[in-house]
Amino acid sequence: MTPAERAAELRRELAYHNHRYYTLDAPEVSDAAYDALMRELVQLEAAFPQLVTPDSPTQRVGGAVLEKFEKVTHRQQMLSLGNVFDDAEFTEFDERLRKATGLEAVQYVCEPKMDGLAIELVYENGRFVQGSTRGDGVIGEDVTENLKTLKNLPLTLSGEGVPKLLEVRGEVFIRKADFKRMNDALLARGEEPFVNPRNSAAGSLRQLDSRVTASRPLSIYLYEVGVVEGASFDTHTQKLAALEAFGLPVNPRRSLVTGFDGVKGAWSALLAERHALPYEIDGLVVKVDRTELRARLGQVSKTPRWAVAWKFPPEELETKVRKILVQVGRTGAITPLAELEPVFVGGVTVSRATLHNEDELRRKDVREGDWVFVRRAGDVIPEIVKVITTKRTGAEVPFVFPTTCPVCQAPVKKADDGAIARCTNRACPAQLAGRLRHFATRTAMDIDGLGEKLCEAMVERALVTSVADLYRLDLKTLTGLERMGEKSAQNLLDAIARSKQTTLRRFVYALGIPDVGEATAKALAEHFREVPALMAASFDDLQRVKDIGPEMAASIRGFFDEPDNRAMVEQLLSAGVTPAPPEIVATGTFTGKTVVLTGTLTGMTRDEAKEAIEKRGGKVSGSVSKKTDFLVAGEEAGSKLTKAQELGVKVLTEAEFAALLG
Ligand code: IVH
Repeated sequence: MTPAERAAELRRELAYHNHRYYTLDAPEVSDAAYDALMRELVQLEAAFPQLVTPDSPTQRVGGAVLEKFEKVTHRQQMLSLGNVFDDAEFTEFDERLRKATGLEAVQYVCEPKMDGLAIELVYENGRFVQGSTRGDGVIGEDVTENLKTLKNLPLTLSGEGVPKLLEVRGEVFIRKADFKRMNDALLARGEEPFVNPRNSAAGSLRQLDSRVTASRPLSIYLYEVGVVEGASFDTHTQKLAALEAFGLPVNPRRSLVTGFDGVKGAWSALLAERHALPYEIDGLVVKVDRTELRARLGQVSKTPRWAVAWKFPPEELETKVRKILVQVGRTGAITPLAELEPVFVGGVTVSRATLHNEDELRRKDVREGDWVFVRRAGDVIPEIVKVITTKRTGAEVPFVFPTTCPVCQAPVKKADDGAIARCTNRACPAQLAGRLRHFATRTAMDIDGLGEKLCEAMVERALVTSVADLYRLDLKTLTGLERMGEKSAQNLLDAIARSKQTTLRRFVYALGIPDVGEATAKALAEHFREVPALMAASFDDLQRVKDIGPEMAASIRGFFDEPDNRAMVEQLLSAGVTPAPPEIVATGTFTGKTVVLTGTLTGMTRDEAKEAIEKRGGKVSGSVSKKTDFLVAGEEAGSKLTKAQELGVKVLTEAEFAALLG
């Protein structure tokens, strides 16, 4: 046998054992025997470098270091999925499909919705030639070298009938156990651990040095195809079976079911299994089985009409309450917080949960030492769902709500009606720090670099006693603060100076008038157009403003009746803060139109989109109705998109929207 023949044989054997081990989870040889084959190949390739092929398993260790990722245009757009959240929403989806196809019952394939990163692999004549990220669905990044390091990704396809060209799509993810092992190792080395498997999978794949990717325990499952030449599949079931036969890893947990009942059964079964699964999932993907039906159904914007993700309810997990603390907010509101034994829920480690207010705390009867269920949905603050009373031992300690502020010791008072207890001292350091932070926030005065910690430090060192004092700070005072270098101090001063040129709407919001949110601030700015007019407005004047009722009017009037507040506003204005009145919009692209934004926009933030629409005379609303003129659908648009389609509301893709904005 020539060295070239032996090398080819070793590669075949290694690929075979690799597949048995990583994809089928059924190894035939010991690790030592596998290592011996690998060593032999490494030695052979070292002796005859011309024998090294790009698909050799020796290449999995990584090595290529790139300057940047090249862009890859997908031959066929990579779609994302719409979401449904309950029986009613899935029924709607199913009914729409039955109507469109004329079928009594539709056959669906159900698969777990993997929580990772979507990628595409291209195989030419059975060889892995390119791998890319999804990107915006049209253009992604070339991560071929990194994908090659994934142990369960075959570099060559095997079996009968391998197509000339095969684009396969799937998900790169990290198994829970691998994630834990990796984080433990990072911690042991004194390095920062990853927040969650999804982020670490995404981060690991986007490494310019493929050796870093090789050191991360990434896995992959394939679940769809793009362009295929030299094969065709009548059904999704057939397609997945073919991928499997080519040696590609396909999730074995999949089922072919019929109609709503079949899907609901698969959904419930998967939900029950969720915690026992070796990887993170966030729902069930439901796909029409027949290829020909899919073609007939087509797609809207970036989502197919033939598939949907049926999301799981927010995850709830058990943990223990270590301690109950209270936090004092900018309006003096005292919020109880539970300090928890850290628990991994909803994709992040949670160690604190809000208890909202005293009434809520009593209603749930949460005590220090209690076992509780915690929940985290989306980006919201984690909360305690309920106490597991059966786990009580009697050693739990009920929390005594403070009657004095834990920060300044001033008396705590509850408004006659409200559940909210407040610290009564407006000069309370916690309140002042909260007001500063609010003043600086992005949608208020937008002072970059003035975060929570810095606000607290400035209050503690008595550098400021009101938000107006911010405009009196100098370099020397700021550099006196701990961990504040000259450069960051100067940056902060520049940001503060920049904030002087602002709009009335931002200014009014920044003042922190109780109950006045961004929308009310905008309405006040449009109505009164300048600060003195607003400050002088009577209770009745205020109620003439759109959407302002007696309570809000009283709150605003009360705020400006307070001498400290009037003084603060005067000081801000004399420090040079110049709130510009809102522009009077003549006619714009969206004059008189109501627009709803949904999904993720890639080119701009929600806030920017909203501002752009309002500048052009339009109104942005949160929900779709018959009165909606346009729906701007970003990525992963869900039920709002469905509703808009049903109501015949004009749907704009992000690109169409951007074109309208000019
Ligand atoms: S199919 C047109 N199947 O979910 C079909 N996607 O929200 C597009 N995902 O970008 C993908 N598990 O990253 C499909 N079994 C599965 C999936 C899955 C997870 C992800 C994928 C996609 C996103 C869409």
